[in-house]
Amino acid sequence: MGADFRSDTVTRPSAAMRAAILEAEVGDDVLDGDPTVRLLEEEAAAWLGKERALFVPSGTMANQVALGAWTRPGDEIICQRWAHVTTYEGGAAGFLHGLQSMTLGGRDGRMSAAEVEEAMRPDFIHCPKTALVCLEQTHNVAGGVVVPMEEVSAISAVARGRGVPVHLDGARLANAVVASGIPAADWTVHADSVSLCLSKGLGAPVGSVVAGDAAFIERAMRVRKRLGGWMRQAGLLAAAARVALAENVGRLALDHALAREVAERLGRIDGLEADPSLVATNIAMVTVDREGLSAARVAELLGEHGVQVMAMGPQVLRFVTHLDLAAGDVQRLEEAAQAVMA
Ligand SMILES: Cc1ncc(COP(=O)(O)O)c(C=O)c1O
Repeated sequence: MGADFRSDTVTRPSAAMRAAILEAEVGDDVLDGDPTVRLLEEEAAAWLGKERALFVPSGTMANQVALGAWTRPGDEIICQRWAHVTTYEGGAAGFLHGLQSMTLGGRDGRMSAAEVEEAMRPDFIHCPKTALVCLEQTHNVAGGVVVPMEEVSAISAVARGRGVPVHLDGARLANAVVASGIPAADWTVHADSVSLCLSKGLGAPVGSVVAGDAAFIERAMRVRKRLGGWMRQAGLLAAAARVALAENVGRLALDHALAREVAERLGRIDGLEADPSLVATNIAMVTVDREGLSAARVAELLGEHGVQVMAMGPQVLRFVTHLDLAAGDVQRLEEAAQAVMA
């Protein structure tokens, strides 16, 4: 296998995860509760500083369960312009829940509390109801940036001041925790529900959780059921996810250092631009700056050199680091990029 920088979702389960899967005690989670799923849900809820958590198959479902639990058809949600929830979930907010979306801000992943306040609908029969404000941490399209605590808390205060709940898409919240040194619970105190992917930087093969208080979880369970996300002997998956949460949070710092190294090395190559000081977590965005050469073409050429990467815009490549990169993969990437750009 070549060096794969497409996503932190490409990792294979570790030996410890495979052993945990073999030994997992399981049951029918729908009929009786699966003991290993229950353990994961308790551990994830504790880590996230929330009362309860639900295990679901994907980050998309975790977010969509939250949207469904907080809203009614015809409502409006406010989120960042490039939020995963509206950009990369197949239009699910509209298709599944009959929601419309008000999106704010730009490519930097930010939106201000003032913008959110202005976007909130008045209590007026002609307007949709603003039912939810969604935040994303870290912000994927913006390049894994950590949205500063002052902004998170200010947006949350504006929403809650108007009685509107806040959902945090924390697919990569663990990366934000490690990069900022701020514990998960200090972030999630500003959100009424939060999702967390175990299958991204944490390395589990499958699964996410969505967490909140008991009343939220009661509603979320109905939505999960409706979406077909209540799995049976899911303890096999939860067992690997428990290992991911217990063992793989701290080591994300290695991925972050590696992503900075990617930006440093590629930024030195003629025709590529990258600023290591902008790399906050495990994502390095690199701009292709050469006339007539697109990011997609560079990705294709890198592929011929055994390096996989995704184009995230006409001129932008996204490199994601993760625990399955081998020693020497960044060196291999640099050499491949030098050959491609020469
Ligand atoms: C910020 C964010 N939220 C949610 C998801 C969805 O996760 P999944 O691919 O498991 O549905 C992703 C996936 O990349 C993501 O980056």
